[in-house]
Amino acid sequence: MASKIAIIGTGYVGLVTGTCFAEVGHQVTCVDNNADKVKMLQDGGIPIYEPGLEDLVKKNTAEGRLRFTASTKEGVDESDIIFIAVPTPPQDDGSVDLSFIEKVAREIASSMTSYKIIVDKSTVPVNTGENVAETIKRYNQANVDFDVVSNPEFLREGFAVGDLMEPDRVVVGTTSQRPVAAMREVYEPFKAPIIFTDINSAELIKHAANSFLALKISYINAVSIICEASGANIEEVANGIGLDERIGRRFLNAGLGFGGSCFPKDLSAFIAIAEQLGYKFDLLKEVQHINAGQMERFIKKIEETLWVLKEKKLGVLGLAFKQNTDDVRMSPAIDLCQRLVKEGAELRVYDPKAMEKAKEILPEGEGITYVDDMNSIGEGCDAILIATEWPEFTELDLEKARKDLSHPILFDGRNLFEPAKMEELGFIYKSIGR
Ligand code: UGA
Repeated sequence: MASKIAIIGTGYVGLVTGTCFAEVGHQVTCVDNNADKVKMLQDGGIPIYEPGLEDLVKKNTAEGRLRFTASTKEGVDESDIIFIAVPTPPQDDGSVDLSFIEKVAREIASSMTSYKIIVDKSTVPVNTGENVAETIKRYNQANVDFDVVSNPEFLREGFAVGDLMEPDRVVVGTTSQRPVAAMREVYEPFKAPIIFTDINSAELIKHAANSFLALKISYINAVSIICEASGANIEEVANGIGLDERIGRRFLNAGLGFGGSCFPKDLSAFIAIAEQLGYKFDLLKEVQHINAGQMERFIKKIEETLWVLKEKKLGVLGLAFKQNTDDVRMSPAIDLCQRLVKEGAELRVYDPKAMEKAKEILPEGEGITYVDDMNSIGEGCDAILIATEWPEFTELDLEKARKDLSHPILFDGRNLFEPAKMEELGFIYKSIGR
């Protein structure tokens, strides 16, 4: 059966969630307080690059299941279930800023005229649901019944539509039985196991999952250091341990470390809430420490080969924080570029999707030249660097690159090429843990 749903916030999570809900037949109203963004979405444009999303937005808008508005009141009036998907940005002390959640909770409360299920989808520290419920109770002028539910998201940018349409699991945290049937109906079309928990556990599942994935990456990065020191190969080690089903091969790719708007923020937030609750989560501090060390080690590798970086010309492939996205927030690739420019290097940079967004934080000029063609990246350069794991970088014209470079040197921060093959082609090739 089709559910009537409102989604407050049309960022990555809100827009993908709302669109996929509409795609399976639900009636969805997406609300955003940014009127320009709402206009753009109403006109069929989307503000982010996410594979497959634009077509789905157009299709579901045209078929009348998906609409956009700047009015929370309208969204609340037209739906039975209201998802909150607003940002929870980091603060200086590592904890998260919950003011957007609090504000939306008040807006929803003052708009309600009948029973509503209010679902928190934003990533929040444990115990937030209790505060949301308290806030809604306080500002609920019509004094109607409501339930607060926690339903964390597990979407990866660049793969968000697939992750939502075919989830590994759906987590629904609720303290009351009343919203259970409605939440089942929302997720029934997705054919995934639904786990019902209490609200606090659902909130914790999100932080614990992201922190564990980050830990997995830092673990393999730490092992890569031992591989380099001992002459082992991190790819073979990752394959060898990853085939153990208890471990699994995914998220065991060594490299420049993790970035993006989720892992770094969620780790800090989990450490902060743990501390507030009386536990010092030193394990996760070490995860952060190893992650920061990967960048230091990569730069050291470059300096060991090229010596002084001042006036060196370097071609950098990749600016996004990972493949398949134009998102450059907390991107290791951007961090790398900024550090190299600070050392006086001159960069030619290329990314398949993220160049526009990168220009805002890494302006053209000032040691940075944006190039339109991946295969021209090495022209006039002393070395090529790979900073993001875009699959198309494996198609780089290596013959041309070898001729373009003053000396054929390639630093691969994402292990995209085979060391033996690169050596055969005459490259000095340095990657991670091999
Ligand atoms: C992550 C989680 O994977 C999602 O499940 C979660 O829903 C999301 O955060 C969120 O909280 O919203 P995302 O940040 O989009 O998703 O991207 P990931 O694919 O997890 O990659 C994160 C970072 O880890 C990237 O910088 C990537 O390059 C790096 N990474 C990933 C590695 O260095 N090695 C790997 O093996 C995998």
